[in-house]
Amino acid sequence: MRKELFVYASGKPERIAIRNYTADDIAGLIAIQQESFPPPFPSELWWKEEQLLEHVTRFPEGALVAQAGNRLIGSMTGLRVNSATIAADHRWEAVTDNGYIRNHNPQGDTLYVVDICVIPEYRKYGVGKWLMQSMYEVVVQLGIPRLLGGGRLPGYHRYADQCTAWEYVERVIAGELNDSVLSFLLRCGRMPVGVAERYLEDEESLHYAALMEWKNPFYQKDAFEASQLHNL
Ligand SMILES: CC(C)(COP(=O)(O)OP(=O)(O)OC[C@H]1O[C@@H](n2cnc3c(N)ncnc32)[C@H](O)[C@@H]1OP(=O)(O)O)[C@@H](O)C(=O)NCCC(=O)NCCS
Repeated sequence: MRKELFVYASGKPERIAIRNYTADDIAGLIAIQQESFPPPFPSELWWKEEQLLEHVTRFPEGALVAQAGNRLIGSMTGLRVNSATIAADHRWEAVTDNGYIRNHNPQGDTLYVVDICVIPEYRKYGVGKWLMQSMYEVVVQLGIPRLLGGGRLPGYHRYADQCTAWEYVERVIAGELNDSVLSFLLRCGRMPVGVAERYLEDEESLHYAALMEWKNPFYQKDAFEASQLHNL
């Protein structure tokens, strides 16, 4: 995949590209993570070269980067899993194989989001939403039923003495509170389907995440099931 488009950076159109990342992009991808996930986010969770190599070989369709000029400004990564596997243990580490995606299942019914980030300098210009839109297009092209991911709740620690994590999600949905990740995901068309405890080591979210789904509006059950049989 490769597309070019304009985002409005401080009111001025700027041309960017969204494309699959490759092994040549590794240094730039790690730099995006360092800028996007500052402390208290644990630096051990930034991408490592070995993880990125797994992404580009196991599921290159789910490895997306946004680029402005020669600079990488955002990225998004996914893998395919089966709903039944996630239900058994819904922690980021378990579902994404700690970000290595060696559990990627080419038959999986769900495109699971491992990560999305945009460098601070390019935030609020629509880059994150375009990355998400591009991943929805991958879901449609694969003909699978849905995309799913755990959205961090970085604002939750400020309200944890007043409400449960699910109540916090409901308050954000009601428009009473804003959360930098959950509000972004709602604006991207994702729908809340639950909350996972001990999802990720993430102090701000008190280790919770909202489980956020996007259903493929073009999904055809018969065609998907036939393709599963064909690939047996
Ligand atoms: C979350 C993140 C990817 C958003 O990227 P972005 O490029 O700034 O988002 P966009 O500009 O595409 O925003 C899309 C919509 O979300 C809204 N949005 C973005 N950041 C928001 C925030 N902090 N609070 C509320 N809404 C926000 C935008 O206003 C926009 O709304 P609109 O469609 O109504 O205009 C980015 O802030 C980031 O990298 N954060 C740190 C990493 C992280 O926590 N990732 C999530 C892991 S689960």
